[in-house]
Amino acid sequence: MTIRTELKWLIALAVAILLVLVGGLVWLRSARGFSALARPTAMEAMMARMARALALPSGVNQARDPVPPTPMNLEMASEHFAAHCAICHNNNGDGQTDLGRDLYPKPPNLRGSNTQHKSDGALFYSIRNGIRMSGMPAWPDDSDQEIWALVTLIRHLPQQTAAERAAMKPYNPKTIFKEPIM
Ligand code: HEC
Repeated sequence: MTIRTELKWLIALAVAILLVLVGGLVWLRSARGFSALARPTAMEAMMARMARALALPSGVNQARDPVPPTPMNLEMASEHFAAHCAICHNNNGDGQTDLGRDLYPKPPNLRGSNTQHKSDGALFYSIRNGIRMSGMPAWPDDSDQEIWALVTLIRHLPQQTAAERAAMKPYNPKTIFKEPIM
């Protein structure tokens, strides 16, 4: 390599480093103190979705939900969901709760196509292991059967009836964390 080509590479490298630094700074400025009140931009949401899809261990997408959507299974899963999940996800799964709205990332609409197009195994994996750098906790102590039943319920949410939603209410936690105390 001649001195001139080496110089060209050095300049290209310096420009690349500068671009990364400027890009990082622009992103940090747009992060607004990392407030959870903001909405992720479309670009950030897409990158997060891609990162999660890539991080899924191989074989996870092949697992099929063994729990059939019988009325009894749906009822049990609805009680479980109302008690442990609805505080963020809402009884109907749309994520429109006080706590859910003020998280970053926000809970997705579980009834919507993004979630419904995910495999049974991917949903099971998210519930069992939680989702890092988000409000979604892991549930290591629930049995496989209980978690599959939650997946069965999530598949049922788009057809959930008003009566099914009303039956969940008594199982919702009573404490409203977001009311000011004074
Ligand atoms: C403290 C709030 C909170 C609780 C409680 C919670 N979640 Fe979540 N959940 C989230 C958030 C936030 C996300 C989105 C994470 C992300 O986008 O990276 C999420 C994501 C998910 C996803 C992934 C959806 C998808 O499209 O990939 C599933 C499935 C899920 N939750 C099910 C549950 C179930 C079932 C429970 C109860 C056992 C539960 N969650 C309890 C906050 C919560």
